[in-house]
Amino acid sequence: MDFQLSEEQQMFVDMVRKFAQREIAPIAEKTDREHRFPKETLDKLAELGLMGIPISEEYGGAGADYFSYILFIEEIAKVCASTAVILAVHIGLGCMSIYMFGTEEQKQKYLVPMAQGRMLGAYALTEPNSGSDAASLRLSAVDKGDHFVLNGSKIFITNGSYADVFITFARTDPATKGAEGITCLIVEKNTPGLTISKPVEKMGLNGSVTCELYFENAIVPKENVLGKIGEGFKVAMQLLDGGRIAIGAQGLGIAEGAFEYTLNYIKQREQFGRPIAANQGIQWMVADMATEIEAAKLLVYRAAWLKNNGLPHSKEAAMAKKYATDTAMRVTTDCVQLLGGYGYTKEYPVERYMRDAKITQIYEGTNQIQRIVIARHLLK
Ligand code: CAA
Repeated sequence: MDFQLSEEQQMFVDMVRKFAQREIAPIAEKTDREHRFPKETLDKLAELGLMGIPISEEYGGAGADYFSYILFIEEIAKVCASTAVILAVHIGLGCMSIYMFGTEEQKQKYLVPMAQGRMLGAYALTEPNSGSDAASLRLSAVDKGDHFVLNGSKIFITNGSYADVFITFARTDPATKGAEGITCLIVEKNTPGLTISKPVEKMGLNGSVTCELYFENAIVPKENVLGKIGEGFKVAMQLLDGGRIAIGAQGLGIAEGAFEYTLNYIKQREQFGRPIAANQGIQWMVADMATEIEAAKLLVYRAAWLKNNGLPHSKEAAMAKKYATDTAMRVTTDCVQLLGGYGYTKEYPVERYMRDAKITQIYEGTNQIQRIVIARHLLK
């Protein structure tokens, strides 16, 4: 097995790393402190043609492979996890949904402007009473011939108030309760009857907006059905199989970013007359962190490689997501510990990494749900 990036992938990573250092790192702290959506970063990425990395050029994307997209999310998350999730949802769930399941008309109307960065995407699956049990969703879509009428609500929608397009899952067959009878719909932000709440206040990931959506007799034309009527749950799950690799990459990037900062710190910080890195107890901590980061990287890259090659990757994506995001939490917690009192203050970046890491264990399926996915694959 070849663990080297191709020359093209390496050049791409170098370019993204330089961009992240130059354009994102300097504003990451402010983005978090002021809860500022980093619109200017998205505009710059659009200029570089990076808002639809794995989408083919004919549909406005960069025509790169899925693996390169995963490397991109990792690099961005090293400096700003908020920016990384905005992009992971827009590209991995928004653009990819239409790329994988859309008609030619839907691709021209929505995918092209999304991949070019002229429209932002969001993914609306979760509801107040339907989180881990996604198949219990209740947003109702009543068939009225050439359109559906939607009533209900969605919650925790990343990109909410900035999104132009919501990939929305609704129950089109009222006689059903579980995974059957769900349909995926492309819902535009200006749909009459759709109201988007103010962003909810969160522990971290403050640059990313998270909103509720309320549907009151909202009309969605039939041509906006994505995939087949009644098969929306499978669309949701297939998208999450790819999405979870990106969240794994986000966790990996968060862990790497915090670790790199901490490694420099412990070499500089002196106590008892020598750098604290000279203590074996601290050396063991950094050795453990580095090993876990490396293991997370291998799992994330392997899942990305499988998807890139059109191979089954549901179990591997769940493993990568679970392990890499747990690693992010453990590593960032230890980084705060190694910076001591300073680590707990907002003068140093590691507490932001720790707050941002927490949500990666929760969204796109909690790490408990990932275990269910893994176990079902093993036992079937
Ligand atoms: N690919 C294709 N089909 C799939 C699939 C997959 N990965 N997973 C399940 N299916 C199919 C099954 O084969 C089954 O179809 P058949 O009946 O024809 O066999 C159907 O879907 C139902 O599957 P299950 O019986 O496995 O469904 P379930 O109700 O037991 O749920 C679950 C499975 C894994 C627990 C699922 O509900 C789940 O993933 N829950 C977590 C929800 C989640 O991840 N939410 C993320 C929100 S988005 C987000 O967080 C974005 C953000 O902001 C960052």
